[in-house]
Amino acid sequence: MSQASEFLLRPQPRARWMRVETAHLLKRFFFCERALLVSEAAWIPSVAPLEVKTGLARFIWQNAETAEALRNRVFELRFPSRLLEEEGGDHPLIELFGAVKNSPSVPAFLSSVGKVLLPALRDSYQAYIEGSDSIADGPTHRFLTLALSEKAEQIRVFEQWAESALSRNPELREGALAWTQAVANRLSEVGGVGVGPSPLAAAAGSLPGSKTYAIPWQPARDPRFWPCRFYWPDVVDPVYPYGEGMQLQLRSAISHVNEVWAIEAGGVILSAFADILPWEWIHNSARWTYDESRHCQMGYERLTAWGLDPAEVPLGTYIYQSASAEDPIYLLGMLYFFETKNIRHKPARAQLFHTYGDAVSEHDMDFDWADETMHAGYGKHWLKELLAIRGQDPAAYDQVRERCEQLVSDYVNTATAEEIAEIKTMASALMAKAARRT
Ligand SMILES: [Fe+2]
Ligand SMILES: [Fe+2]
Repeated sequence: MSQASEFLLRPQPRARWMRVETAHLLKRFFFCERALLVSEAAWIPSVAPLEVKTGLARFIWQNAETAEALRNRVFELRFPSRLLEEEGGDHPLIELFGAVKNSPSVPAFLSSVGKVLLPALRDSYQAYIEGSDSIADGPTHRFLTLALSEKAEQIRVFEQWAESALSRNPELREGALAWTQAVANRLSEVGGVGVGPSPLAAAAGSLPGSKTYAIPWQPARDPRFWPCRFYWPDVVDPVYPYGEGMQLQLRSAISHVNEVWAIEAGGVILSAFADILPWEWIHNSARWTYDESRHCQMGYERLTAWGLDPAEVPLGTYIYQSASAEDPIYLLGMLYFFETKNIRHKPARAQLFHTYGDAVSEHDMDFDWADETMHAGYGKHWLKELLAIRGQDPAAYDQVRERCEQLVSDYVNTATAEEIAEIKTMASALMAKAARRT
């Protein structure tokens, strides 16, 4: 340009997005992550393989951490506003991320998330990192780079899960493909995630083939394990000892792997109260669900390292099923009930494991204790918040806990003589096998 301006004007790509546009994009990413993780949490009880349940819990937590960082960054950029007003023009897009909660089957859910929604987020984060200014927007670059690498892993793992779910249920392949295509079509109709402005008008409404989500009454169980309702004799027989020595080592590992119910309860309540409680609920319950998945893995790893076969390990359903047909406040109450009931035993058991020289049981119990201390706080806080929002007395949280105790005891009373005899046989066989391995 020969007609020089009186100003210094060299095009510099750093200025592509101004502060307000930046906040707008990050807000879009926040709402997408939020809707995606709420959909994912709802599916935990329906997937059978243990590694899919624990893996989903970990991804939900990662996504919640990303969403939390995005949300805080939007507040920083819009200071002093602390309002994250509604999704605006991005509403149809965010609705799509929530719509996979209504997927018609497990493979359809896994494939639509792994092949369409996660890649859309990955590509948008990549484009955002490339197009934004690493000086002005350095704080976003740090967490979004981490989120990008997590998305790459999530995509790889979701694709494997979807493929193995399809190979177990080949009759669902056609429906899963059609659903994935419907989600992909809708994504392009609403303009994708991207880094552009929101579309002026976009498609909305339910997707073809969707099936309205309902909380599963019965959780799916990994077929590698021994399936049952009551996973140890002391659950159904009050005089059966919790045990000491090797029996305590086994009992504790069995308890840990059976925390699979807590992952499922965590996922269901995260999703059930997502639109009723504030964002902090989702953030807390994502961590809660992830922690339970780590406790479950602790048990699994110890049992496997001792040379025990999953086929000999009872994996029960009774706690989840005691409350899954009730108002979901009772699944929240179940977590609170069992956590407050058991926490006092944990330091003493960790100490016993120490005297046995069983460092790994001691280590797991000690880390578990630290998590549970935090969870007891979550339980009490959120039960009170939920009661208050419902116009009930927040102090009635203890009544919810008492009703949970009753629900469990009523359910335990449905144990048949045959079930009791079977679990005793399984427990004796497991202890005998473990004794041969000492
Ligand atoms: Fe736990
Ligand atoms: Fe817990």
